[in-house]
Amino acid sequence: MEFNKKIILVVPLICCSLLSGIDAVPSYRVKLLEEPPSAAPAPSPSDDLGGNTAASHNAQLTALCSDAESPPLCVNAIAPFIQGALDPVVAVKVEMGATMNITTKVSETIKALQAKPDITKDEKASLDICADQYSSIVDTINDCLDSVKQNDVYDAWMKFSSVLSYQQACEDAFKEGGGSIPFPEDSKTLFQLGGNCLAILMHLSGETSTY
Ligand SMILES: *[C@@H]1O[C@H](CO)[C@@H](O)[C@H](O)[C@H]1NC(C)=O
Repeated sequence: MEFNKKIILVVPLICCSLLSGIDAVPSYRVKLLEEPPSAAPAPSPSDDLGGNTAASHNAQLTALCSDAESPPLCVNAIAPFIQGALDPVVAVKVEMGATMNITTKVSETIKALQAKPDITKDEKASLDICADQYSSIVDTINDCLDSVKQNDVYDAWMKFSSVLSYQQACEDAFKEGGGSIPFPEDSKTLFQLGGNCLAILMHLSGETSTY
């Protein structure tokens, strides 16, 4: 779990921090080679391994979610929106939509807490930071959805990692203020859904990579 998190967080940062894309290619290749064959994209109905049954569609989704931060959450968020063979691009849009929904929910919680007359100065400061972070998460997800719509999954992957940085910055704001975050469960769910998006985007970037 801890190990997975590190890979998910570190890989895009390494790629982004390099001025030249050349150095990023080898580590990228390594990742591609590690991809299990079962994680292949939706096979055609004539594919021997794939087949066109509900069980094989389910197996496709499980494979797509296998590297996710929380595989069960990944499968459960996507499954209701998929009929028939898995389209991984549709799947990642759904997971991003689920991430957007929890972001909206937390933003409303933050607004309600900010409006309370009895909050302390520290709480107000932390909530103000979180309001900014969550607004940035909304912008980032919208930006990434645009990239996915333009078939630039790699670009979406590179940009999406900042969602987790903003989520962390909000948690840190409360820690540094000496308090505890008033919405720990939703913050954790956002972290998991965001991590799932990142894992699927990484997976799709590999599949569509021209390297
Ligand atoms: C997000 O919320 C909207 C509105 O409630 C809902 O229609 C949609 O299905 C949700 N998306 C996901 C991926 O759960």
